[in-house]
Amino acid sequence: MDDHIISRASACGKIILCGEHAVVYARPAIALPLASIRAHAVITRGIPGAGLCFVAPDLGRRWLLAATPDDPMAELVTTTLRRLGVTQPLDLRITVTSELPIASGMGSGAAIATAVVRALAAALDRTLEPADISAQVYDSERRYHGTPSGIDNTVVAYEQAIWFQRRAEPPHVIEPITIGAPFTLLIGDTGVRSATRMPVGDVRRRWQEDPAHYEALFDQVAAIVTRTRTVLASGDLGTLGALLNQNQELLERIGVSSPELERLVDAARSAGAYGAKLSGAGWGGVMIALVDDGSADSVRSALVQAGATRVLQTTVGAG
Ligand code: MEV
Repeated sequence: MDDHIISRASACGKIILCGEHAVVYARPAIALPLASIRAHAVITRGIPGAGLCFVAPDLGRRWLLAATPDDPMAELVTTTLRRLGVTQPLDLRITVTSELPIASGMGSGAAIATAVVRALAAALDRTLEPADISAQVYDSERRYHGTPSGIDNTVVAYEQAIWFQRRAEPPHVIEPITIGAPFTLLIGDTGVRSATRMPVGDVRRRWQEDPAHYEALFDQVAAIVTRTRTVLASGDLGTLGALLNQNQELLERIGVSSPELERLVDAARSAGAYGAKLSGAGWGGVMIALVDDGSADSVRSALVQAGATRVLQTTVGAG
Protein backbone atom coordinates (compact mmCIF):
# COMPACT_ATOMS: atom_id res chain seq x y z
CA MET A 1 0.00 0.00 0.00
CA ASP A 2 1.19 3.52 -0.86
CA ASP A 3 2.43 5.04 2.42
CA HIS A 4 1.19 8.46 1.33
CA ILE A 5 -2.41 7.27 1.51
CA ILE A 6 -4.09 8.94 4.46
CA SER A 7 -7.52 7.38 3.99
CA ARG A 8 -9.70 5.65 1.47
CA ALA A 9 -13.42 4.96 1.32
CA SER A 10 -16.03 3.73 -1.10
CA ALA A 11 -19.80 3.93 -1.58
CA CYS A 12 -22.28 1.72 -3.40
CA GLY A 13 -24.42 2.44 -6.43
CA LYS A 14 -28.21 2.21 -6.31
CA ILE A 15 -31.26 1.12 -8.23
CA ILE A 16 -34.77 2.50 -7.82
CA LEU A 17 -37.06 -0.54 -7.72
CA CYS A 18 -40.23 1.54 -8.05
CA GLY A 19 -41.60 5.02 -7.43
CA GLU A 20 -39.06 7.28 -9.18
CA HIS A 21 -40.26 10.79 -10.09
CA ALA A 22 -43.39 10.47 -7.93
CA VAL A 23 -40.96 10.39 -4.97
CA VAL A 24 -39.96 13.99 -5.79
CA TYR A 25 -43.65 14.87 -5.10
CA ALA A 26 -43.73 13.29 -1.64
CA ARG A 27 -44.92 9.82 -2.70
CA PRO A 28 -43.04 6.74 -1.41
CA ALA A 29 -40.42 4.86 -3.43
CA ILE A 30 -38.27 1.77 -2.88
CA ALA A 31 -34.52 1.87 -3.55
CA LEU A 32 -31.92 -0.90 -3.44
CA PRO A 33 -28.15 -0.64 -2.91
CA LEU A 34 -25.81 -2.07 -5.54
CA ALA A 35 -23.05 -3.18 -3.19
CA SER A 36 -20.79 -4.65 -5.88
CA ILE A 37 -20.59 -1.52 -8.06
CA ARG A 38 -18.89 1.33 -6.22
CA ALA A 39 -17.31 4.76 -6.30
CA HIS A 40 -13.98 5.28 -4.51
CA ALA A 41 -12.16 8.20 -2.90
CA VAL A 42 -8.51 8.12 -1.87
CA ILE A 43 -6.92 10.92 0.15
CA THR A 44 -3.18 11.46 -0.04
CA ARG A 45 -0.85 14.23 1.06
CA GLY A 46 -1.04 17.23 -1.26
CA ILE A 47 1.48 19.85 -2.29
CA PRO A 48 2.40 22.01 0.73
CA GLY A 49 0.58 25.34 0.50
CA ALA A 50 -1.60 24.32 -2.47
CA GLY A 51 -4.71 23.48 -0.41
CA LEU A 52 -7.13 20.81 -1.57
CA CYS A 53 -6.68 19.29 -4.99
CA PHE A 54 -9.17 16.98 -6.75
CA VAL A 55 -8.13 14.37 -9.26
CA ALA A 56 -10.69 12.51 -11.40
CA PRO A 57 -8.67 10.18 -13.66
CA ASP A 58 -11.87 8.77 -15.25
CA LEU A 59 -12.64 12.28 -16.54
CA GLY A 60 -9.01 13.25 -17.14
CA ARG A 61 -9.51 16.19 -14.76
CA ARG A 62 -7.49 17.74 -11.95
CA TRP A 63 -8.45 20.97 -10.19
CA LEU A 64 -7.79 23.02 -7.05
CA LEU A 65 -10.56 23.79 -4.58
CA ALA A 66 -9.25 27.34 -4.24
CA ALA A 67 -9.69 27.90 -7.99
CA THR A 68 -13.25 26.52 -8.11
CA PRO A 69 -14.97 27.38 -4.80
CA ASP A 70 -18.43 27.22 -6.46
CA ASP A 71 -17.88 23.76 -7.90
CA PRO A 72 -20.38 21.37 -6.19
CA MET A 73 -17.55 19.00 -5.24
CA ALA A 74 -15.55 21.87 -3.73
CA GLU A 75 -18.64 22.96 -1.79
CA LEU A 76 -19.23 19.43 -0.56
CA VAL A 77 -15.68 19.22 0.79
CA THR A 78 -15.83 22.67 2.37
CA THR A 79 -19.13 21.99 4.17
CA THR A 80 -18.00 18.51 5.24
CA LEU A 81 -14.76 19.85 6.70
CA ARG A 82 -16.73 22.57 8.49
CA ARG A 83 -19.08 19.87 9.85
CA LEU A 84 -15.99 17.98 11.06
CA GLY A 85 -14.76 21.09 12.85
CA VAL A 86 -11.80 21.82 10.53
CA THR A 87 -11.09 25.50 10.09
CA GLN A 88 -7.44 25.59 9.02
CA PRO A 89 -6.50 24.97 5.34
CA LEU A 90 -5.47 21.39 4.50
CA ASP A 91 -3.05 20.33 1.79
CA LEU A 92 -4.69 17.15 0.53
CA ARG A 93 -5.19 15.42 -2.77
CA ILE A 94 -8.59 13.69 -3.21
CA THR A 95 -8.68 11.17 -6.04
CA VAL A 96 -12.12 9.93 -7.10
CA THR A 97 -12.88 6.98 -9.37
CA SER A 98 -16.14 5.22 -10.10
CA GLU A 99 -17.28 1.89 -11.52
CA LEU A 100 -20.70 3.53 -12.05
CA PRO A 101 -21.29 5.19 -15.40
CA ILE A 102 -22.26 8.86 -15.02
CA ALA A 103 -25.91 9.78 -15.80
CA SER A 104 -26.99 6.15 -16.02
CA GLY A 105 -29.57 6.02 -13.21
CA MET A 106 -27.30 4.07 -10.87
CA GLY A 107 -26.51 6.91 -8.48
CA SER A 108 -22.97 7.73 -9.58
CA GLY A 109 -23.15 11.33 -8.26
CA ALA A 110 -24.39 10.30 -4.82
CA ALA A 111 -21.86 7.45 -4.65
CA ILE A 112 -18.87 9.68 -5.50
CA ALA A 113 -19.99 12.33 -3.01
CA THR A 114 -20.57 9.74 -0.27
CA ALA A 115 -17.15 8.17 -0.84
CA VAL A 116 -15.52 11.63 -0.55
CA VAL A 117 -17.37 12.48 2.69
CA ARG A 118 -16.45 9.09 4.21
CA ALA A 119 -12.80 9.44 3.18
CA LEU A 120 -12.59 12.96 4.66
CA ALA A 121 -14.06 11.75 7.95
CA ALA A 122 -11.63 8.80 7.99
CA ALA A 123 -8.68 11.11 7.23
CA LEU A 124 -9.56 13.06 10.37
CA ASP A 125 -10.16 9.87 12.42
CA ARG A 126 -13.83 10.70 12.69
CA THR A 127 -16.96 8.67 12.03
CA LEU A 128 -20.06 10.26 10.55
CA GLU A 129 -23.44 8.55 10.96
CA PRO A 130 -25.30 7.62 7.74
CA ALA A 131 -27.87 10.37 8.45
CA ASP A 132 -25.07 12.97 8.63
CA ILE A 133 -23.40 11.73 5.44
CA SER A 134 -26.75 11.63 3.67
CA ALA A 135 -27.52 15.24 4.65
CA GLN A 136 -24.13 16.47 3.36
CA VAL A 137 -24.57 14.63 0.07
CA TYR A 138 -28.16 15.85 -0.33
CA ASP A 139 -26.97 19.46 -0.32
CA SER A 140 -24.47 18.61 -3.02
CA GLU A 141 -27.10 16.70 -5.09
CA ARG A 142 -29.24 19.83 -4.98
CA ARG A 143 -26.49 21.71 -6.77
CA TYR A 144 -26.46 19.11 -9.56
CA HIS A 145 -30.14 18.57 -10.14
CA GLY A 146 -32.24 21.18 -8.47
CA THR A 147 -35.01 19.29 -6.71
CA PRO A 148 -33.78 15.84 -5.68
CA SER A 149 -36.13 13.87 -3.45
CA GLY A 150 -33.24 12.69 -1.29
CA ILE A 151 -33.72 8.98 -2.05
CA ASP A 152 -30.36 8.52 -3.84
CA ASN A 153 -28.17 9.97 -1.07
CA THR A 154 -30.22 8.05 1.53
CA VAL A 155 -29.96 4.57 -0.01
CA VAL A 156 -26.26 5.09 -0.74
CA ALA A 157 -25.46 6.35 2.78
CA TYR A 158 -27.42 3.56 4.53
CA GLU A 159 -26.48 0.87 1.96
CA GLN A 160 -29.66 -1.11 2.53
CA ALA A 161 -33.02 -1.61 0.83
CA ILE A 162 -35.21 1.31 1.87
CA TRP A 163 -38.70 2.68 1.71
CA PHE A 164 -38.31 6.44 1.34
CA GLN A 165 -40.88 9.19 1.52
CA ARG A 166 -40.00 12.84 1.45
CA ARG A 167 -41.58 15.13 4.04
CA ALA A 168 -41.81 18.93 3.66
CA GLU A 169 -39.22 19.15 6.44
CA PRO A 170 -36.71 16.47 7.53
CA PRO A 171 -36.75 13.89 8.99
CA HIS A 172 -38.03 12.10 5.91
CA VAL A 173 -39.53 8.62 6.22
CA ILE A 174 -36.70 6.07 5.86
CA GLU A 175 -37.60 2.48 6.66
CA PRO A 176 -35.80 -0.80 5.97
CA ILE A 177 -37.61 -3.07 3.53
CA THR A 178 -38.28 -6.71 4.40
CA ILE A 179 -37.34 -9.09 1.60
CA GLY A 180 -39.22 -12.37 2.16
CA ALA A 181 -37.34 -14.32 -0.52
CA PRO A 182 -34.22 -13.28 -2.47
CA PHE A 183 -34.90 -12.15 -6.03
CA THR A 184 -32.66 -11.39 -9.00
CA LEU A 185 -32.65 -8.33 -11.20
CA LEU A 186 -30.81 -7.84 -14.48
CA ILE A 187 -29.83 -4.24 -15.09
CA GLY A 188 -29.67 -3.37 -18.78
CA ASP A 189 -27.85 -0.20 -19.79
CA THR A 190 -29.19 1.63 -22.87
CA GLY A 191 -25.81 3.34 -23.21
CA VAL A 192 -27.72 6.63 -23.52
CA ARG A 193 -26.49 9.13 -20.94
CA SER A 194 -29.16 11.44 -19.55
CA ALA A 195 -28.46 13.87 -16.69
CA THR A 196 -31.11 13.46 -13.96
CA ARG A 197 -31.96 17.16 -13.92
CA MET A 198 -33.28 17.06 -17.51
CA PRO A 199 -36.25 14.65 -17.12
CA VAL A 200 -36.83 15.84 -13.53
CA GLY A 201 -37.02 19.46 -14.76
CA ASP A 202 -39.27 18.49 -17.67
CA VAL A 203 -41.71 16.64 -15.40
CA ARG A 204 -41.81 19.69 -13.11
CA ARG A 205 -42.67 22.01 -16.01
CA ARG A 206 -45.48 19.72 -17.15
CA TRP A 207 -46.72 19.24 -13.55
CA GLN A 208 -46.86 23.04 -13.15
CA GLU A 209 -48.97 23.27 -16.31
CA ASP A 210 -51.38 20.49 -15.32
CA PRO A 211 -50.98 19.60 -11.63
CA ALA A 212 -54.20 17.58 -11.36
CA HIS A 213 -53.16 15.21 -14.16
CA TYR A 214 -49.69 14.55 -12.72
CA GLU A 215 -50.87 14.34 -9.11
CA ALA A 216 -53.28 11.58 -10.20
CA LEU A 217 -50.43 9.69 -11.94
CA PHE A 218 -48.20 10.09 -8.86
CA ASP A 219 -51.02 8.68 -6.68
CA GLN A 220 -51.21 5.61 -8.94
CA VAL A 221 -47.44 5.16 -8.64
CA ALA A 222 -47.74 5.43 -4.84
CA ALA A 223 -50.39 2.67 -4.81
CA ILE A 224 -48.01 0.41 -6.79
CA VAL A 225 -45.11 1.14 -4.42
CA THR A 226 -47.28 0.33 -1.40
CA ARG A 227 -48.35 -3.01 -2.94
CA THR A 228 -44.74 -3.75 -3.90
CA ARG A 229 -43.65 -3.48 -0.29
CA THR A 230 -46.20 -6.12 0.76
CA VAL A 231 -45.26 -8.38 -2.15
CA LEU A 232 -41.53 -8.10 -1.35
CA ALA A 233 -42.23 -9.40 2.14
CA SER A 234 -44.15 -12.40 0.75
CA GLY A 235 -41.74 -13.19 -2.13
CA ASP A 236 -44.37 -13.57 -4.87
CA LEU A 237 -42.29 -12.96 -8.04
CA GLY A 238 -45.25 -13.11 -10.44
CA THR A 239 -47.06 -10.27 -8.67
CA LEU A 240 -43.83 -8.31 -8.22
CA GLY A 241 -43.18 -8.53 -11.98
CA ALA A 242 -46.72 -7.34 -12.77
CA LEU A 243 -46.24 -4.35 -10.45
CA LEU A 244 -42.96 -3.42 -12.16
CA ASN A 245 -44.79 -3.53 -15.53
CA GLN A 246 -47.57 -1.29 -14.20
CA ASN A 247 -44.98 1.18 -12.89
CA GLN A 248 -43.33 1.25 -16.34
CA GLU A 249 -46.67 2.07 -17.96
CA LEU A 250 -47.12 5.01 -15.59
CA LEU A 251 -43.54 6.21 -16.21
CA GLU A 252 -44.34 6.21 -19.93
CA ARG A 253 -47.41 8.34 -19.22
CA ILE A 254 -45.34 10.65 -17.00
CA GLY A 255 -43.11 11.13 -20.05
CA VAL A 256 -39.73 9.84 -18.88
CA SER A 257 -39.36 6.65 -20.92
CA SER A 258 -37.57 6.45 -24.29
CA PRO A 259 -37.52 4.18 -27.36
CA GLU A 260 -34.19 2.68 -26.23
CA LEU A 261 -35.54 1.89 -22.76
CA GLU A 262 -38.75 0.41 -24.18
CA ARG A 263 -36.81 -1.77 -26.61
CA LEU A 264 -34.95 -3.32 -23.67
CA VAL A 265 -38.10 -3.59 -21.52
CA ASP A 266 -40.01 -5.36 -24.33
CA ALA A 267 -37.06 -7.68 -25.07
CA ALA A 268 -36.78 -8.69 -21.41
CA ARG A 269 -40.49 -9.44 -21.11
CA SER A 270 -40.55 -11.45 -24.37
CA ALA A 271 -37.55 -13.49 -23.17
CA GLY A 272 -39.35 -14.54 -19.99
CA ALA A 273 -38.74 -11.82 -17.38
CA TYR A 274 -41.52 -11.58 -14.79
CA GLY A 275 -41.57 -7.84 -15.35
CA ALA A 276 -39.38 -4.95 -16.47
CA LYS A 277 -39.22 -1.18 -16.16
CA LEU A 278 -36.87 1.75 -16.50
CA SER A 279 -35.02 2.66 -13.31
CA GLY A 280 -33.97 6.14 -12.21
CA ALA A 281 -34.69 9.37 -14.00
CA GLY A 282 -35.25 7.88 -17.47
CA TRP A 283 -34.82 9.22 -21.03
CA GLY A 284 -31.77 6.95 -21.05
CA GLY A 285 -29.72 5.14 -18.44
CA VAL A 286 -30.76 1.74 -17.21
CA MET A 287 -33.78 -0.55 -16.96
CA ILE A 288 -34.34 -3.51 -14.65
CA ALA A 289 -35.81 -6.94 -15.37
CA LEU A 290 -37.02 -9.40 -12.73
CA VAL A 291 -35.74 -12.88 -13.56
CA ASP A 292 -35.17 -16.28 -11.97
CA ASP A 293 -32.52 -18.96 -12.55
CA GLY A 294 -34.52 -20.35 -15.47
CA SER A 295 -34.85 -17.07 -17.37
CA ALA A 296 -31.70 -15.09 -16.44
CA ASP A 297 -29.54 -16.30 -19.35
CA SER A 298 -32.18 -15.88 -22.05
CA VAL A 299 -33.18 -12.42 -20.76
CA ARG A 300 -29.52 -11.35 -20.64
CA SER A 301 -29.01 -12.46 -24.27
CA ALA A 302 -32.24 -10.74 -25.34
CA LEU A 303 -31.12 -7.49 -23.69
CA VAL A 304 -27.77 -7.58 -25.49
CA GLN A 305 -29.54 -8.38 -28.79
CA ALA A 306 -31.86 -5.42 -28.22
CA GLY A 307 -28.92 -3.04 -27.79
CA ALA A 308 -27.93 -3.13 -24.11
CA THR A 309 -24.34 -1.91 -23.85
CA ARG A 310 -23.88 -3.69 -20.50
CA VAL A 311 -25.97 -6.10 -18.44
CA LEU A 312 -25.38 -6.41 -14.70
CA GLN A 313 -26.95 -8.87 -12.31
CA THR A 314 -27.85 -8.31 -8.68
CA THR A 315 -29.56 -10.56 -6.18
CA VAL A 316 -31.55 -8.70 -3.56
CA GLY A 317 -32.12 -10.03 -0.07
CA ALA A 318 -29.50 -12.77 -0.16
CA GLY A 319 -27.51 -12.99 3.05
C1 MEV B 1 -33.41 9.44 -9.45
O1 MEV B 1 -32.66 8.33 -9.00
C2 MEV B 1 -34.80 9.34 -8.95
C3 MEV B 1 -35.72 10.51 -9.31
O2 MEV B 1 -36.95 10.24 -8.65
C4 MEV B 1 -35.16 11.83 -8.85
C5 MEV B 1 -35.13 11.98 -7.34
O3 MEV B 1 -35.81 11.24 -6.63
O4 MEV B 1 -34.43 12.90 -6.90
C6 MEV B 1 -35.99 10.59 -10.80
